[in-house]
This record gives sequence, structure tokens and C-alpha cells, in this order.
Amino acid sequence: MTQHLAAPLTGTSDDAPGHRHGWWQDAVIYQVYPRSFADGNGDGMGDLDGVRRRLPYLRDLGVDAVWLSPFYASPQADAGYDVADYRAIDPMFGTLLDADALIRDAHELNLRVIVDLVPNHSSDAHEWFKRALREGPGSALRERYHFRPGKGADGELPPNDWESIFGGPAWTRTTDPDGTPGDWYLHLFAPEQPDFNWDHPAVADEFRSILRFWLDMGVDGFRVDVAHGLVKAPGLPDIGGAGQLRLLGNDAMPFFDQDGVHEIYRQWRRILDEYPGDRIAVAEAWTPTVERTANYVRPDELHQAFNFQYLGTSWVGSELREVIDASLAAMRPVGAPATWVLSNHDVTRHATRFASPPGGGTQTREAGDRTLGLRRARAATLLMLALPGSAYVYQGEELGLPDVTDLPDEARQDPSYFRADGQDGFRDGCRVPIPWTREGSSYGFGGGGSWLPQPEGWGALSVEAQTGDPGSTLELYRAALAARKEHPGLGAGDAVEWLDAPEGVLAFARPGFVCTVNTTGTAVRIPAHGRVLVASGPVAVDGAEAELPADTTVWWTV
Ligand code: NOJ
Repeated sequence: MTQHLAAPLTGTSDDAPGHRHGWWQDAVIYQVYPRSFADGNGDGMGDLDGVRRRLPYLRDLGVDAVWLSPFYASPQADAGYDVADYRAIDPMFGTLLDADALIRDAHELNLRVIVDLVPNHSSDAHEWFKRALREGPGSALRERYHFRPGKGADGELPPNDWESIFGGPAWTRTTDPDGTPGDWYLHLFAPEQPDFNWDHPAVADEFRSILRFWLDMGVDGFRVDVAHGLVKAPGLPDIGGAGQLRLLGNDAMPFFDQDGVHEIYRQWRRILDEYPGDRIAVAEAWTPTVERTANYVRPDELHQAFNFQYLGTSWVGSELREVIDASLAAMRPVGAPATWVLSNHDVTRHATRFASPPGGGTQTREAGDRTLGLRRARAATLLMLALPGSAYVYQGEELGLPDVTDLPDEARQDPSYFRADGQDGFRDGCRVPIPWTREGSSYGFGGGGSWLPQPEGWGALSVEAQTGDPGSTLELYRAALAARKEHPGLGAGDAVEWLDAPEGVLAFARPGFVCTVNTTGTAVRIPAHGRVLVASGPVAVDGAEAELPADTTVWWTV
């Protein structure tokens, strides 16, 4: 029996005859990292009840949907991306009733809910994996993962040369029930995250059932973790060479972006389409090019894919223009919306990335020049929200939060930090619980402490401190999201018209709208394109001309 615990949201963003487009084609989707958003029971760890209570804040911010990072039962070896039970909520986040209440309340506020789905690997505490180990060689459950004998005289060497994305070999040797060293199993991430064998029909069946479970709960969609990793090249061939993998790297590999993944997504699409209310899936697919990414969003596959090429682009005008053009061109033939993202729970917040000279990559421990970083981050956000398609906002970026670059080592929890000997894996810096109030224990995050220490001065960046201050980053986001909803030239689309502009300045038109972005460190004179709709910094309009300050974006309504 199919029971809809929460009613689906229906309706589309544009019901004009002959041009129906789904809500997701121009949606602004807000990523909640449940550990660090709001703590409802005061134990120092965010939870679903905390999220639920703060939903009105998200409605007022003006986003269309909320994507929640994993809240499933998990030993938390990788902050919940190691799932032990895909149909249960981890007690630290609440219960299934809390999830149901959250989905219902969100829908009442006209917010959609996207949940994270982790199909590439389970936790080593998943029932299948535990039994596979317990039952020993020959257990049928071992076929649902990648178990292999080792190489070398006594099987003492890993079956191939693949490295874990978190550092070290991608294989861990097991101990047989009789205590002797046994086969090895594959884990592209931590040893606590064994990879599923997607060639086994039971794995595919199980995930189709998990999809239905959450669709029946009323969720509006899924963010598919490591969507490019499910299928491995036959025979698990060696790659050759060391240092082959970086965290979320995008090179072609025998375990990434194999053509076989697409058949899985075709099957999932058919399930999503069976449900009312425009349910969607977005791929976390790190591929070598935007063209390869477009394969995941062909009309019979997923709806969106994150644009990591955009996320990885420095604050350099020519590079931004190039990636914008390439992204729009890649999505046009498949009819999928381009997506834009600047921050998430795996990368250094953009206010900190842009605080250092270009080329520092997506993870850094440098605090850089915070004033400069924030000015650029505000300008970068306005650029992103002006582009055609859908955009992702990571919790706290609307407060202009920097990464916390000086977390003490003993507070860190990112498994990649430990596996890479502290050389990599600074993801804790963007995961620090966000400040809601100026003062008070954990700055309003909850009644108690916070699982990662919040820095001094965090309260000055709080929602409370910024609300009503017209110069604040929070009010900038509110104004931009409101304008994006109201202005017909913003939102969905597949093209921009570039206008002439001085070097380092981007200017493009959309119907009735112009966006001008100065990525350089000096003010420039530009034509005034109409009335200023929203600006990331002070702009002086002087008749037909305007002075666009350094690192500033202005939206004009023509
Ligand atoms: C991508 C997730 O975003 C990241 O946080 C996680 O560590 C890996 N996938 C493994 O699930």
C-alpha cells in the first residue's frame, strides 16, 4: 500500500500554455547541513526538529527548496555519508516522525524538500556488510560489495592500485571468521564506507525500494551522492601511478563516470515520474567536462547536476565568462537547466576562497583578507543568482560566513583530514554551526554547546545582528532572492547576451535586465543600464554613466 504521509507540493513555476516548466528549472535550493543548522534539543548537535523550527526563516529568505544532507542511521564515520539504515533516522537527528513533521511543515510554507541519497557505498555497520563479514568467504552477501583476494604470495597486497579519495589504499583486508587474514574489500572513501557492487541485481532493487520509501514520505527529490561512481570498469583494472586521486577530483578513472551509470538513472527517472508533484533528482557527478556532466541530465535521466566546474572557477572575469558559456552550451542540447553553486559542505566557503589570490583550489586553510573575500563573495553571489537556471546556496553563506580556518586539530572530525595526515581534508571549516543570535550559548544554534567550536565574534555575523541592516549580507540575499522571484528576466532560461565591457568586467543582458560585474580591484566607469535593482556594494550613478566599484555586481532593470 502506498501511503502519502505528507501531501506532495503541486504546481509549476510557469503554467503558461505550451511552455510548462518544472519548479526545479529556476529553483534556488538551500542546503541544510543538519548537524550545524539548528539544535532543537540542546545537545550540541543540530537535528531535524531544529530545522523544522527554522523553516519560516528559510521561507522568508526566499528560497524554493531545502536539500538536507544525510540524517539516516549512521555511525558517523563520514558525518552521515556512511549509512547503516536508509529507512531510519539517526537518533541524534530525531525520528521518522520528526522527518514527517518537517516535510509537512515545509510543504505548508511552500518549500520543497530534497533528501540526500548515498548509493555508492553503505556504512560498514549496514546489515548486509556485517553479515557478509560474519559469514565469511562464500557468503552470498559478499557479492553485493566488492570483495577480492589480495595479490602477493599470501594475498598480503591489495587487489589493485586504487587509492581512497580520503587518502591511503582503496582496499582494506578482512579477517576471516577463523581469525586468519582474508579477502579485501573496496572503499573509494573511508574503510567504514564499503562500495556497493551495482552489477548485483539486489543492490539495484534495494535502491529502487529506498527511493519509493522516501517518495511515499512526500519528499520532492534526491541529491545523489557520488552519482558518477556507482559502476566500476569491468575487471577493476589498475590505474598506474601514485597520487592518482584528490578529494572529489574530476579525472577520468575506472571507477568514475563509467557509461553504465546512466542505465541506473533511466530506471530511477521512471520511478520519479510515476509520482505526482514533479519529483526530481540532482547528481553529484564530478566529471572531467561540463559535456560529460550533461549526460546525467538527458531527458530520460536526472533533472539537474551540480556545476562543479563553476564552483572551482576563480574570481577572474575571463574564466567566469568561459565557464558560464560552456555550462549553458552543454545543457542546451539536453534541455536541462544549468545549475550554479559556490559553496557546499565539502569545500572552503567562497568568502574565504576569494580572500586569497586565485588558484588556491577549493580547499584552503588560509584565512586571507576577509574584507576582500566578503566583498567578492557578495559580488559572486549576485552574479550566480542572475544566471539562467537553478542555484544552490549553502547554509551560512547568506550571512557571509568565512571558513573557520583555525579549528584546533583535536576538534576536527573530517575523516579525510586524518587519513591524509592533515595535508588535506579541511572540510570541518565550513561545517561549524551557524550563529542565529548575537549572544547566548552557541549563538542561538541551540541551548547547549556546539559539536565544532564556534569562533569568537561569530555573534556579530548572526541572523539577529544582520536582520534589518541594509548593508548586511543577509539583507542582500533577501533582496536578491525577492527580486529574482519578481523580475521576469531572471530565473529559467538557457542563454545570456554578452555586452561590451572593459577587461575584467562582465556585462550581460537578459530580457528587461542587465547584470554588470567588476571582478577587478579598481573601479570602472560603465553605462548606467537603467534603474539599479540590487547591488552588492555602493554604486554611484551619474546620468547615463555609473561607477562600478572594485569587486562589485549590480543588477539593473532596463
Ligand atoms: C560526497 C559528499 O558530499 C561528501 O561529504 C562525502 O564525504 C562523499 N561524497 C562520500 O560520501
